Parts: sequence; structure tokens; C-alpha cells
Amino acid sequence: RVFDADGAVLVPGIVDCHIHNREPGLEYKEDWESATRAAAAGGVTTVVGMPNTDPVIDSPENLELKFERGEASAHVDFQSYAVVTSENLELIPDIDEAGPLGFKVFLGSTVGDVPPPSDGEILEAMERIRETGKRLGFHEENGEIIDHYTERFKAEGRNEPIDHSHSRPVIAEREAVERMITFAEETGAKIHMFHVSSGSAAEAVARGKDRGVDVTAETTPHYLWFTEDVMREKGNVARVQPPIRDAEERDRLWEVGIDDGVIDCIATDHAPHTPAEKKVDDPFGNTWDAISGFVGLETEVPAMLSFVDDGRLALEEWVRRHSTRPAQVWGMYPQKGSLQIGTDADFTIVDPNLEWTLEDRRELHSKNCVTPFEGESFTGKAVATVVRGQIVAEDGDVVGDSGYGTRVDVD
Ligand code: NCD
Ligand code: ZN
Ligand code: ZN
Repeated sequence: RVFDADGAVLVPGIVDCHIHNREPGLEYKEDWESATRAAAAGGVTTVVGMPNTDPVIDSPENLELKFERGEASAHVDFQSYAVVTSENLELIPDIDEAGPLGFKVFLGSTVGDVPPPSDGEILEAMERIRETGKRLGFHEENGEIIDHYTERFKAEGRNEPIDHSHSRPVIAEREAVERMITFAEETGAKIHMFHVSSGSAAEAVARGKDRGVDVTAETTPHYLWFTEDVMREKGNVARVQPPIRDAEERDRLWEVGIDDGVIDCIATDHAPHTPAEKKVDDPFGNTWDAISGFVGLETEVPAMLSFVDDGRLALEEWVRRHSTRPAQVWGMYPQKGSLQIGTDADFTIVDPNLEWTLEDRRELHSKNCVTPFEGESFTGKAVATVVRGQIVAEDGDVVGDSGYGTRVDVD
């Protein structure tokens, strides 16, 4: 097979360790097949699914069910986290045996029926997970602070999309990051902060790293690309947890998180919902009922390459955070995240000069494609995606077979 690779760049396969593939149980939003179709088209060779499905992935049986569904239909390689709740602390060793990539705790409320464990239970979970050698990641927002502001704003009759964002203030994120770092310092657990949205939270991660805590962190293209003004322009479409922050927090996320190297991983938080759930027909109404989250698998490589094109980020620094480091953080390296010579390599070919505007979200491959990146213009795009030596997508068209993707074995 010969590519016209004129001007193109070969990079190790892009690894996205934060997607909501929605299967089992929420297939009306997305499933393994559609999520990994979007991944392949977007230049992503490995994805990791979040456990807020139905049933939630809180037992060895549910994890095995999720893996079976993935083996049956995925286009690219995959893994999954298992959730820790108040109910399943004793099951942690058995869940570990079933082979998840790592563990996840949702602090505070988010999408799905996963109530947060108490602080005592989190400490106990850290002790148990430490024994498995795996890492524990957090949805890092303090739910009590959010509940307080949400109730107060509702009582005051505030109903703008921006009010929703402000009801989840930066302090809720920073406090949760600091508390989990303190717990990890005490227990010796390896921890991770998913979807860090603010410079303040990145600074908290930096202080933890300085103290010698094994804390790693992720951010997403949307926190680097947008400021909260997008809530005023696009309303509920841009609603996400944690929310998109003001320019000052966004700029400090760049400086502390990216320039100073505190953020280890880029991932999407790809979170498909139906247009009705996102209230696309009424983007500035019904704010408190609109759901949070949007897709990202096909805009993450273009967004990051646009930062490279702007001179905001070196190409090597992008590749490190979007392939090598995520694979290392989650124990998949060098199986994933490296450019290996041979016929079974994962790699992505990108054209850093290709200009592309996402004119219509229906160009995307997910089941539901609402995203605030609709209408945005990019410089740079994936032109071929290769998983274990097989071309799975070319020029945005998926050419591989459903079911080719396989679980990444981490034990
Ligand atoms: C996610 C979802 O829809 O599952 N939504 C979101 O706003 N980020 C949940 C999550 O990542 O916490
Ligand atoms: Zn989350
Ligand atoms: Zn998420």
C-alpha cells in the first residue's frame, strides 16, 4: 500500500484515555461500534471507556460484559475503567483480576447514577487499589459545593447557560484535587485527575507533584480552545462538567498545565448525548435541564494540530501528551504510545497543513454529534489511522472492519 505522504507526518497512534462509549445500556446515545468508528476517522488508535454506563461498570461481570461488547464491534483497540462506589470496595481485587485499565471515582454529581463514596471510603479504596498496582482517576469536582451553588442560583431564578457554568466554580475543582492529593500522600496510591479545566486546578496538581505524590493529570482540547464566552454564543451545546472557564483560568491552564508540563495527557471526554437531551432547539432555555457533555473524537487531532500550527505547542509536545504519556500513565507503554518498527505497529499519519471547517456536525461518525466545535476551523487533520498494521481509516473514511479492535491487555 502506498500513501501519498507528501508533507504528512507519521506519529505513534493517538491514545484517548477518556471517552464515554455508552455501551452497555445507553446505546441510544453511542455504542462501541460508533464510538470507535469516530475514533478511527479522527486518527485515534486506542480508546478507554468510562464506567458510567447502564449497568455501571462496578463488578467483574459488568466489566466482562463491556469487554465482550467491545470485542464484537470495535474498530480500534480499547480498554475500560471500573468505578468505585460505596458498595463495591471489597470487590476491588476481583475487579482487578478481570483486567481493567484502572479505577475511577466520581466525586460529586455528574451524568449517570454513580453517587460519590465518602472520604473514608475513598481512603480505603486508595489502600486497596494501591495493592493492585493500578491507578485511581477522579472526576475531580466537590459535589457539596456544586449542590450549594446550584440550589442558590435556582432559588434566585438564574437560568442562563453561563449560570450553570458558574454553579460549578473553580474552587469546587481545586478543593477536590487538593483533597485527593492529600489522601494519596497518606495512602501511597497512584492517582489521576481527569478533565482538568482550570489553571487553579493545574497549580494544585503541580504542588502535589512537587510534594512527591504520584499524581498525573489530563485536560481536553475544549478547555484549551474555548473560554466561557462560548456559553454565551452557543448556550447549552457547550455545557460540560467541569465547565469551560474564563480567559484567565484558560490562559493559566496553558501556562502551568502545558508550558510547565504539569498536564500529562490530552483526552477528549467524548460524551455523546441526543440533540434533544442537549436542547439544541432551545440552546438558551431550560438551562438546568440540559445535559452536560459533547463529542470530541474527530476534532481532537485537528484542534491540537491547530495549536501546533499557531506555534502554541511543539509537535513533539503534542505527541507526548496525546500518545506516549497517556500510554505510560495507564500502563500500556510500549505496547501503545510508541512508534515500533514492524508489521503490527499502531500509527497515525497527519497532514499538519490540511485546512478543515466542521461545517455540519452530521459529517461526524458518532450516533449523536452535538459539539461546540461545529462551525470551528482547523489547520491539521489525520489522513490515515493504522491499528496493528491494518489501515482502519483513510482520509476520514472508515475502511476497517467492526470487530477488528481488541482489548489492550495490561496484566
Ligand atoms: C460526561 C457524560 O456525559 O457522561 N459529561 C460531562 O459533562 N463531562 C460525564 C463526565 O465526564 O463526568
Ligand atoms: Zn467527569
Ligand atoms: Zn467524562
